[in-house]
Amino acid sequence: MIELNTVMLRADNEQDLSRAAELIKSGELVGIPTETVYGLGADGLNVSAVAKIFKAKGRPSDNPLILHISEPSQMEQLCHDIPEKGWLLAKKFWPGPLTMVLPAKPIVPKVTTANLDTVAIRCPKTESTRKLIELAGVPIAAPSANASGKPSTTTAEHVLHDMDGRIAAILDGGACEVGLESTIVDLSGNKPVLLRPGGITPEELLDVLGELEIDKAVLGQIDSDAVVRAPGMKYKHYAPNAEVIIVSGNANDAASYVRRRYNEQTAVLCFDEELSLYEGLNPTSYGSEEDSMSLCAGLFSALRTLDKPEIHTIYARCPSGGGAAYAVRNRLNKAAGFCIVSAKEDTE
Ligand code: TXA
Ligand code: MG
Repeated sequence: MIELNTVMLRADNEQDLSRAAELIKSGELVGIPTETVYGLGADGLNVSAVAKIFKAKGRPSDNPLILHISEPSQMEQLCHDIPEKGWLLAKKFWPGPLTMVLPAKPIVPKVTTANLDTVAIRCPKTESTRKLIELAGVPIAAPSANASGKPSTTTAEHVLHDMDGRIAAILDGGACEVGLESTIVDLSGNKPVLLRPGGITPEELLDVLGELEIDKAVLGQIDSDAVVRAPGMKYKHYAPNAEVIIVSGNANDAASYVRRRYNEQTAVLCFDEELSLYEGLNPTSYGSEEDSMSLCAGLFSALRTLDKPEIHTIYARCPSGGGAAYAVRNRLNKAAGFCIVSAKEDTE
């Protein structure tokens, strides 16, 4: 792969936005800010530009991409048979952290959908990115802008770390507000199916849809050769190099469990409220247990901070409950490869 000189551009500068749009139009890759995580953007209708995304990320070609649009009405150019429920969701949650899977029109290249008949569509909340899509005049295909398998990127610096020399530019829009990827709902079948939890909660979706199936890949482990509806969900994901182990149980039991195993190759990832329990163990907190949105916003950044060669094991605390905690649990479970230990059993 030819080394590129990756240029840092500013999302709040008009000239920089135009420059990013020109790069997209000419088939180059640009790291783009969204309210969820940074995306690795390219012209979603240009076969060779989309192929570059897979190469830059090291992404398996059977993992389809999301097309980002600047206006909900653009769904019609890319999808057919859009159900009433699709328009209802768009009205309620767009622009915002929701992705809908719908039947694809032939204009969408097969490389973008990884040969599926459906395509994933999202209208992001970040205004500068919608402006960029408008200036480029094409839907922007963008997976999360991390090296494949690594935690998603929530700052321009994270993107530079993973993609320096592999992409033409990065549009710096500051830290992402949500911090976890969008909620994905599949509307291409008889019943709406939740494929990935995110900033829009299952409860909010149910309110609009009246019914919602949860895909089995969402909270359970699946075989790597299993056929799943969101192909990306079958891979070990969001993971630093270290082994992540989720320690369940109450705060005190968990702290004792970790203390018994702590050494210099160990790191602790916990809630703000638990920091004092890990005194002397150099704990990292990723947000407040009482505020799931803060956990969403802090998780990936904390996992990246702990991704150091000397760290072999990360003991992590995981929130319980619904709402945004559901999405945090899903990502941590995947980062841990579903390795969950019970602190209580250890003390008995
Ligand atoms: O918040 C987000 O969604 C971010 C920002 C950049 O928009 N993007 C993102 O993209 O998370 P990515 O590629 O990392 O995750 C997209 C997920 C993958 O698991 C993929 O398999 C699934 O969406 N997906 C894409 N197209 C699909 C389709 N037609 N049917 C089912 N799943 C699909
Ligand atoms: Mg991703």
